[in-house]
Amino acid sequence: MTQIEITPEMTDVQSTGKQVYVETYGCQMNLADTEIVLSVLNKEGFASTDQIEGADLVLLNTCSIRDNAEQRIHHRLANIAHHKKKNPELVVGLLGCMAERMRKDLLTDDSIVDIVVGPDQYRVLPELVSEARHGEKGLAVKLSRVETYDDITPMRTEGISAWISVMRGCDKFCTYCVVPFTRGRERSRSLRSIVDEVKYLSDHGFREVTLLGQNVNSYLWEGKDFADLLSAAAAVDPLIRIRYTTSHPQDMSDKLIETMAEWPNICNYIHLPVQSGSNRVLELMNRTYTVDHYMERIEKIRELIPDVALSTDIIAGFPTETEEDHQGTLEVMSRVRYDGAYMFKYSPRERTKAWAMGDDVPDEVKTRRLQEIIELQNSISAEKNQSHLGKTFEVLVEGPSKRDPLEWKGRTGENHVVIFPRSDVDPGEYINVKVDRATSATLIGTEVDEGGRRKVIPLDTLAI
Ligand code: SAH
Ligand code: SF4
Ligand code: F3S
Repeated sequence: MTQIEITPEMTDVQSTGKQVYVETYGCQMNLADTEIVLSVLNKEGFASTDQIEGADLVLLNTCSIRDNAEQRIHHRLANIAHHKKKNPELVVGLLGCMAERMRKDLLTDDSIVDIVVGPDQYRVLPELVSEARHGEKGLAVKLSRVETYDDITPMRTEGISAWISVMRGCDKFCTYCVVPFTRGRERSRSLRSIVDEVKYLSDHGFREVTLLGQNVNSYLWEGKDFADLLSAAAAVDPLIRIRYTTSHPQDMSDKLIETMAEWPNICNYIHLPVQSGSNRVLELMNRTYTVDHYMERIEKIRELIPDVALSTDIIAGFPTETEEDHQGTLEVMSRVRYDGAYMFKYSPRERTKAWAMGDDVPDEVKTRRLQEIIELQNSISAEKNQSHLGKTFEVLVEGPSKRDPLEWKGRTGENHVVIFPRSDVDPGEYINVKVDRATSATLIGTEVDEGGRRKVIPLDTLAI
């Protein structure tokens, strides 16, 4: 899953004077969870603020996926300690995967953390916050086997894109991965509640919905699988783009690929993490597929969805990884030619099976292998982007680009970012853009075929 930067949530809500400031780390599941947390706290009168100064409650929604993700939180806590010194009433809470992994170790006497709440316990947050205000430190991290937050409407930031968690947890137990320990067993939300939420988002001006799960292919609700869910979501509104993440290569079924090919508003983009290009390493990772199986799935996808864009996750330096294994990874990358990749150095995590395998690839070797992987991917991405010159894409307009307010930004269904000169379009509208130039990360173009615009209701006429 995509790794994200710190994003203080900014939502205007009814306030009774108390303010909560949240920073979210990790994957999109955490971003979606933060919206649940804000909804739970809003009912108790907390308004969300993007300023840590003046907040009554500071929450860090944390990630444990690699050691550096946790180190970042420790540094951040050291920094927040200054705020707490100035305002001893300030309640500091740790949420998310690190909260679940470390539990009471985070609540030592000298720690500034007052409450620790794992991903499936957010309903008890108000209670713990209230106790913390009376000086009692609190821990609520016992994993619930059933929590899906099905009945909680997330407190979303205004915009055109929204996430919906369709399932929680993971049963795959890849040997390097902490997620099954931090997020517990797989469980799916009801199909009806998800479709209702897509409908609600469509009615409120959203134009893009990403269905989230650590392994969405395992979605199952009363006999309906993930492909059924995708069709049901796509049928709600042809102007809503449907995306999803993440798929496991072993479970990428023909039915799912056919469903994607069938619905024009299901985006032609698949994130299909390969992790390694060596069968020996894949087996040690418990990924349960071979390189041949993976390549066969890629071929099937390209046969049914010729314009598909593909991205992946890769780990460099898994225990015992040899130079030959590493070459296998580079080879798979060259064969698939991904549009993008998230690339990581292996980081040993306690309690996982790979922890016991040691961490025998020296750091400088990991770094060098990762560098080779990154360089190869950058050159493939640049070549692929050049191959889009002269093509016309339907772009969903997002708004002004960060760098230059005279330029606007949007995204193709294949998830390419496209920059184009500002025109009289509104965010949420679909326009056609012909690509004139490309960098390794961005396509730059101009709008063509004015008559082909797909108009939608301007967002500002809709109350969210
Ligand atoms: N459920 C998703 C992703 C989960 S975490 C999936 O299966 O694809 C996102 C990515 O982090 C993983 O795909 C993997 O590439 C990487 N990752 C997970 N654990 C890691 C570890 N211990 N060290 C390095 N990278 C890791
Ligand atoms: Fe982790 Fe594997 Fe589950 Fe992904 S599928 S969350 S990598 S255990
Ligand atoms: Fe996501 Fe990090 Fe947890 S990647 S599931 S927040 S360990």
